[in-house]
Amino acid sequence: MKEIRIGIIGGGLMGREVASAFARWIALVDMPVRPILHAVADVSEKVREWFRPLPGMSLLTGDYHELLADPAIDVVYVAVPHHLHEQIYLDVLKAGKDLLAEKPFGIDLAAAEKITAAGTEHGRFVRCSSEFPFFPGAQAVFKGVQSRAFGRLLEIRSGFHHSSDLDPTKPANWKRSSKSCGEIGVMGDLGMHTLHLPLRLGWKPEKVYAQLQKGVSTRPGPDGQPVPCDTWDNAMLHTWVQAGGESVPMRLEMKRLAPGATNSWYFEVLGTEGGMRYNTSEPKTLHTFRRTGGTQVWERADLGFGMPFPAITGGIFEPGFPDIMQQMWAAYLMEREGLLNGRLSCVRPEEALASHQVFAAALRSHANQTVESVS
Ligand SMILES: NC(=O)c1ccc[n+]([C@@H]2O[C@H](COP(=O)([O-])OP(=O)(O)OC[C@H]3O[C@@H](n4cnc5c(N)ncnc54)[C@H](O)[C@@H]3O)[C@@H](O)[C@H]2O)c1
Repeated sequence: MKEIRIGIIGGGLMGREVASAFARWIALVDMPVRPILHAVADVSEKVREWFRPLPGMSLLTGDYHELLADPAIDVVYVAVPHHLHEQIYLDVLKAGKDLLAEKPFGIDLAAAEKITAAGTEHGRFVRCSSEFPFFPGAQAVFKGVQSRAFGRLLEIRSGFHHSSDLDPTKPANWKRSSKSCGEIGVMGDLGMHTLHLPLRLGWKPEKVYAQLQKGVSTRPGPDGQPVPCDTWDNAMLHTWVQAGGESVPMRLEMKRLAPGATNSWYFEVLGTEGGMRYNTSEPKTLHTFRRTGGTQVWERADLGFGMPFPAITGGIFEPGFPDIMQQMWAAYLMEREGLLNGRLSCVRPEEALASHQVFAAALRSHANQTVESVS
């Protein structure tokens, strides 16, 4: 196996998830590349200490510039609050490292433009994180659309729902403030996940009408005192896309206030002859529609563990979040080696940029109560 040395900047929720995906790389079968977690930079000492016992760990630092100066590192994964994306991503690229960037790829459209341009200027391999399309059910819908078996497309729905903001006593964090999360709020949190497959299928929205909602206006801060929370919590984007030579309605839903949902990503495409729907709340289950003669049928199939990158896990078992994180990393590393062989790749910089163009139009639409063109 070729070893690729990785540095992580930001060892919080996602930094640890990635370390865990690397630690069980042995689960993947016949992989010619292997990530070695070489260094972690985080401003919190407590966070850094969590990584100390991991094998191969050569550098723990509070200053990410020290990590970038290490010539042994090939690829850097960055998972920090959104207001830090632009500076850190630009520094990674300037240091001559390849980058797997967390979404939303900059706090706003202007930041995403600068990061995209820097990736090209420095000639680095840059991708953005979005793991849910690596679930077998998501892959099935993606392939179903490409088979053109659905007839004339009638409706596309892509969304991501959770309910972690329903509890008003949940402490404030950087994701609840526009200064650190971005004016786009929940769209920055969940939007790239909803647009990865539509954009890859060529469905970039042309026009958007947005309905944005806020949630709880203050939450307890570190000392228990109320802290203002001003981000959009729910976003419904009603868009038009071009598909099969026709304008088709596509609805994008991003919600932190979706009663009952823990972490439900879904993708649904319906046409006159067929369609498919998949929701991670039932991680194995694919629903397929077909119309034959006068009969309309919805079928429900259990998919099992049919991942794009084969694993030792038994074919009848259920996939979960740690599995799709690992699959996404396999896609990143295999594409970097030129070995993807037609499998789905991670989000490209131009797709992350396109997602920001949609979110910027959505902000204008909500403010003016108008239908806005996406530039
Ligand atoms: N792909 C996904 O499913 C997914 C899920 C959650 C979050 N995210 C994204 O991951 C990123 C991080 O989110 P998170 O939930 O892991 O946040 P987090 O708050 O859990 O972790 C962020 C970490 O960054 C560290 N940090 C802050 N400033 C730093 C600096 N200057 N240098 C080094 N480290 C610094 C913090 O100490 C913290 O440990 C965001 O872009 C977020 O949108 C992605």
